[in-house]
Amino acid sequence: MARKIVAGNWKMNKTVNEGVQLVEDLKNELAKVDASDVTVVVSPPYVNLSEAVKAAGGSAVNVSAQNVHQEASGAYTGEISAEMLKSVGVGYVIIGHSERREYFGENSTDIAKKVDAVLAQGLTPIYCCGEVKEERESGQQNKIVGGQIEAELFHLSAEDFAKVVIAYEPVWAIGTGLTASPDQAQDMHAFIRSCVTEQYGEGIANETPILYGGSCKPSNAAEIFGKKDVDGGLIGGASLKAEDFIGIITAFN
Ligand code: PGA
Repeated sequence: MARKIVAGNWKMNKTVNEGVQLVEDLKNELAKVDASDVTVVVSPPYVNLSEAVKAAGGSAVNVSAQNVHQEASGAYTGEISAEMLKSVGVGYVIIGHSERREYFGENSTDIAKKVDAVLAQGLTPIYCCGEVKEERESGQQNKIVGGQIEAELFHLSAEDFAKVVIAYEPVWAIGTGLTASPDQAQDMHAFIRSCVTEQYGEGIANETPILYGGSCKPSNAAEIFGKKDVDGGLIGGASLKAEDFIGIITAFN
């Protein structure tokens, strides 16, 4: 069985001090519950990473970046490499979030290279895929998501693929208050797992964490996480308050 993961994506929110406070609040809340079988991850903005890593030190909270540049170093003004992320103690990196694809023009070639750059530093990619509203409405979601995974992940060796976390995030559900129904999430997660089985075999497919993302909240997390192929969540808005985030972390049954 895949490990359970709940990862928060803070997006462009929280100053350094606010971020440290949130990590402290989360540590306090985590101490009150039994969530030892859940890997907890927070993803602050770049400038907060160093302080967030220090604040999380020695606790069950892991720290992720929200993005990375695909090249190792060089004349890429404003960009951050995987080696730099590793140097501040980050363990995870979100790659290919739909907001990066939509607002910053990231394409499949960039995303595949980012996955490689992150793995080369021994960090864990949280790789995002998902269809937009029109694609869902025209029944194209499996074709779109299957195509993304094939183009962006299936160049990996089995050994490298086994280190990847997948987050399925229907773009129409991100920050909109709309959530995929538990059955829609399950159908897509099962489809993703079947694609992975075909490419890498059942052993690796069953161990691959597939997270759901898109307006996941304490009130709907239990039903979604209760589905067989849902191994946790990538959480935006509801990860910005420790009480909400803890409500999702403890939603597994
Ligand atoms: P949301 O964002 O939970 O605010 O919908 C999820 C995400 O974009 O990762």
